[in-house]
Amino acid sequence: MSIHSYKNKKVLITGGLGFIGSNLARRLVGLGAQVTLVDSLVPVYGGNLFNISDIRNSVACNISDVRDPHAITYLVQGQDFLFNLAGQTSHMDSMTSPREDLEINAAAQLSIVEACRAVNPNIKLVFASTRQIYGKPDYLPVDELHPIRPVDVNGINKLAGEWYHLLYNNVYGIRACVLRLTNTYGPAMRVKDARQTFLGIWVRSLIEGAPIKVFGDGKQLRDFNYVDDCVDAMLLAGASDIANGKVYNLGSKEVINLGDLAAMTVGLGYGGQYELVPFPAERKAIDIGDYYSDFSLISRELGWEPSVGLEEGLKKTVEYYMANNQHYWDASK
Ligand SMILES: NC(=O)c1ccc[n+]([C@@H]2O[C@H](COP(=O)([O-])OP(=O)(O)OC[C@H]3O[C@@H](n4cnc5c(N)ncnc54)[C@H](O)[C@@H]3O)[C@@H](O)[C@H]2O)c1
Repeated sequence: MSIHSYKNKKVLITGGLGFIGSNLARRLVGLGAQVTLVDSLVPVYGGNLFNISDIRNSVACNISDVRDPHAITYLVQGQDFLFNLAGQTSHMDSMTSPREDLEINAAAQLSIVEACRAVNPNIKLVFASTRQIYGKPDYLPVDELHPIRPVDVNGINKLAGEWYHLLYNNVYGIRACVLRLTNTYGPAMRVKDARQTFLGIWVRSLIEGAPIKVFGDGKQLRDFNYVDDCVDAMLLAGASDIANGKVYNLGSKEVINLGDLAAMTVGLGYGGQYELVPFPAERKAIDIGDYYSDFSLISRELGWEPSVGLEEGLKKTVEYYMANNQHYWDASK
């Protein structure tokens, strides 16, 4: 099955009003799918109706919470695909509100796969996991065989979320696969604060003329995916039966340290400056150090390669927020 086979298929996206979910929805609408978005729109997370303003009349939107098993059981009925992206994404919040993270990222995930087993075992599931579960890498690049050692509550619960999907694939034959995303950025990411990604607050600082704050010595290595590349990976994983029961890393060949990334961001031509500041202790305690992934498995098996370069992606992102910032933050605050 190719990604063009989404035409006329019924697709449910949990977390569909969030950053990646809304970009995925837009692509699926373009491919002719019948798309339903589920999102709780809890204000501290990334959901934002503006993210789908251009496709609002082409998707069904259901404002409900994945922690409600009755709503989920109703919503998964008759769907061909479920892209399961609803999540509490803040690592810091997982430490201050660990039970909420458990309820969304683990318990609700169990309800979702249970609902599929009960009313729609023929559905195909794609779960958005995170590279955070590896913890501090023993070696680089990190492949899927690297030990799992979460450094925060979020990592533990996302791992449980992954395994509910894999278990239901293995035991009940409900087709499911897992993508371990690395830092994903682009239009529609949460830029109001640093809850979702530090790049969000960097973009806001750049546009507001405030210095970008780089924690530590700026030497920390990271890889980044532009959201369109991440969406490509999700569509390929959903469309492929080779992916069933598998875990794939996403990543990029463009590995960069955060100091150089800040320099690249201020060098885009929109002004701005950056400064190195001491790592806040509470962030340092759950930091994973250098990270970049080996994503050769998904390249080999599904033919996925990221195609948007970092500089090009950053430019598109900054331009998007320059044009639309009023929908993402209140400039008076
Ligand atoms: N963006 C990244 O860099 C990144 C990296 C690794 C993993 N991920 C994973 O990808 C997925 C999507 O992340 P995103 O970056 O688009 O974040 P996001 O916060 O923009 O999207 C998540 C969406 O889920 C919704 N949501 C949260 N709790 C919910 C609940 N209980 N019921 C219904 N909806 C709920 C939020 O309102 C939000 O719209 C998440 O599962 C996240 O863990 C993202």
